[in-house]
Amino acid sequence: MKTPHACDLLPSGDVAPCIIVIFGGSGDLTRRKLIPALYYLYQQKKMPDKFAVVCCGRTTYTNEQFRQQLLLSYENGDLNLSNWDEFAANLYYHSLTYTAEAFLNLKDYLYKLDSHHSTEANRIYDLAVPPNLYPIIAELLGKSHMATEQVQGNGWSRIIIEKPFGHDLESARQLNEVLHDYFTEEQIFRIDHYLAKETVQNVLIFRFANTIFEPVWNSHYIDYIGIIASEELGVGNRAGYYDTAGVLRDMFQNHMMQLLVLTAMESPYRFEANAIQDEKAKVIHSLRNFCIDSGSKIHLGQYGPGEINGFMVPGYREEKNIPAGSTTPTFALMELYIDNWRWRNVPFYLVSGKRMAKKETRIVIQFKKTPHQLFRSPFGESTANKLIIETYPQESIKLSFQTKNPGHNLCLRSMYMDFVYQEHYHNISSNAYARVLLDCIGGDHTLFWRQDGIELSWSFLTPILQQCENRQKIMPPLQFYPAGSLGPTSSEKIIQTLFTD
Ligand code: BG6
Repeated sequence: MKTPHACDLLPSGDVAPCIIVIFGGSGDLTRRKLIPALYYLYQQKKMPDKFAVVCCGRTTYTNEQFRQQLLLSYENGDLNLSNWDEFAANLYYHSLTYTAEAFLNLKDYLYKLDSHHSTEANRIYDLAVPPNLYPIIAELLGKSHMATEQVQGNGWSRIIIEKPFGHDLESARQLNEVLHDYFTEEQIFRIDHYLAKETVQNVLIFRFANTIFEPVWNSHYIDYIGIIASEELGVGNRAGYYDTAGVLRDMFQNHMMQLLVLTAMESPYRFEANAIQDEKAKVIHSLRNFCIDSGSKIHLGQYGPGEINGFMVPGYREEKNIPAGSTTPTFALMELYIDNWRWRNVPFYLVSGKRMAKKETRIVIQFKKTPHQLFRSPFGESTANKLIIETYPQESIKLSFQTKNPGHNLCLRSMYMDFVYQEHYHNISSNAYARVLLDCIGGDHTLFWRQDGIELSWSFLTPILQQCENRQKIMPPLQFYPAGSLGPTSSEKIIQTLFTD
């Protein structure tokens, strides 16, 4: 039997008894992600000893119907359902409308469950609902006194929301104001599921728990950094949301910005949520103003029809519920600069697009060539080192270096040292929600956005979005690319380089 690593034996922090209340409880997100994540935690014995999950929605179900319906939907899937009944005994359904009266009823219902499950009036409210309901639910919780700490005796309450955190700077601030009318910053958990990926978290460990990389992690040694999150999927059934968001809001304001700050930030003085958020905020502060007049570069694209994995797929404008003349970008490449001592004049290429040749998420650190080129490679490959931190399709870290090809001729050959998570660790949960829910239960903010980071990110992007959306002449024109390609022609070269090991 494999001997457990010391880390496997560590407790998961303070997992106090609590009730997890999921608004949008009869929805897709709850069924596909949240319940499987909680069940996974239960099976891993990470859930508090005493807990209940209350799914709230407008549809009417009895507890039994709700549990059965979930079970049916999981029966042919990947979940190991061996102790489902045990878990489901803690699972409830409560039908609810968004009215003051309904929330007072909910409050009473939760108190009753407290006595049954000994959950000590601790609450997590998870808002798995469309964002227009965030302020409404926050206010209803607040006005029914369900948001305050000390709900009853010594209970605490926390609220989880997901992106989009607003639509631009102004709406992000408004949302924040409503939340802060009833919840303190400590009570608010804003999820970015990218932060729950092992390799993304590993960026900080790799940089700050090793001595050898940090001295070369700067403009003296690094030529450029590329961060790419390409997808094969199209807009799917999210047309209504996506057409008002586009790739810049959907991917850049949150996930791409997180990957950028983790790569570029300074070491925090302590590995603690606020210290980390402070360093992240400094990076966004230091982003050079994006000004196309002064040479800032952005490429925007939209997918047309094309072939993905042997199947013809429609173009964005032909997708269901997308207006025929939509100019929403589904692809963007931005060249950014961070104006500080460490990163002066190192380009950061951020690329994300839907319906591209393959799904790949990676951070590529391209080092500079040796100052004096002693060797010429007959294979024509670059002799500069490259470090690739990949989260998809593999979770891995690869470092290229030059070796001598065996034989009489002095030939160079690029080789890799690599570490692939799945080869060393089995049973890694691919459900990022398990991690973030556990952290919320434990009250740990490290993997969540803090409001200042969100506002800084919007402050940077909002003027760019305005220029795009008002189709100001200085903006480069939207380019169309065939589904299944490397994106717009103007970006192909850099994308090819980022895809290449
Ligand atoms: C979501 C976006 O936040 O991230 C989606 O809304 C995108 O449009 C998804 O497809 C990508 O996540 P992942 O984990 O598949 O890279």
